[in-house]
Amino acid sequence: MDIVKRVPRMRELSRDLHTRGERIAFVPTMGYLHDGHLSLVRRGREMADRVVVSLFVNPIQFGPKEDLAQYPRDIHRDTELCKSEGVDVLFVPEVKDFYAEHYATYVTVEGLQDRLCGRVRPGHFRGVATVVLKLLNIVDPHFLIMGAKDGQQTMVVRRMLRDLNLDAELVVAPTVREADGLAMSSRNAYLSAAERAAAPVVYQALSRAEELYVSGQRDAVALVAAARAVLEAEPLVAVEYVELVEPETLDPVAELGGEAMLAVAIRLGKTRLIDNILLGRGPSPG
Ligand code: PAJ
Repeated sequence: MDIVKRVPRMRELSRDLHTRGERIAFVPTMGYLHDGHLSLVRRGREMADRVVVSLFVNPIQFGPKEDLAQYPRDIHRDTELCKSEGVDVLFVPEVKDFYAEHYATYVTVEGLQDRLCGRVRPGHFRGVATVVLKLLNIVDPHFLIMGAKDGQQTMVVRRMLRDLNLDAELVVAPTVREADGLAMSSRNAYLSAAERAAAPVVYQALSRAEELYVSGQRDAVALVAAARAVLEAEPLVAVEYVELVEPETLDPVAELGGEAMLAVAIRLGKTRLIDNILLGRGPSPG
């Protein structure tokens, strides 16, 4: 496995692969890897000849009061995991090379970036879209592999790819969960024992709405209320939002006809957790 820190070297490697006609799958991450991340690597290996993983805790997607300084890091463990998964290139750029002095250029995906998590985290999706575009420009992959767990993020990136005529094909892989339903996340490491014990309530809330959907309920207000009631029954949880939205536009859905995303964000103590499921399209992917 090549471990690459410098942007010019990463470009050179990518160009070599293109010249040899090899197909590249790219998995952007912020590290502290878990099985959710590794499922994306495996998907990439199935789809392409080479897998590039980036590990970069992107400062511009964190708000001033957010957890940038505490964000969990373990580069040695991440490196070993990538090696054992057959990753070809681990790209670990440095902040000073990505955001040099007087850095001034950002991508805003208007509308989408202000919905759901964007209301609570202004600037977050601008930071995500910007870093993903920078990474795509450097790695130049055929496939960009991302997780359904971050539903809004995949919508923002999909729109950016389309609007800016980028070639990479977005592949969205299903959410990987712990045995009790909790969606895997690097931030789960922040949870105290009591918070960890309460955390599966997020998936229970989504599953409750799904049961109602399966039994014929199509009214968004009723589906959202059912999920919210499950969350509110857990005293440690502070609900940030529960919304049923149209997946492409993130507009609220009133009556479920086609596909819709039921998205949840909560706080458990200081930790923010998000999760979602798709309703209205065969079995749930998450
Ligand atoms: P990070 O949170 O490290 O996640 C990297 C990728 O792993 C994202 O595509 C995310 O959706 C996916 N992922 C996380 N948990 C998952 C799970 N339980 N199951 C399946 N996939 C999961 O998302 C980011 O980093 C950053 O915003 C990034 C896109 C790298 C830009 O900085």
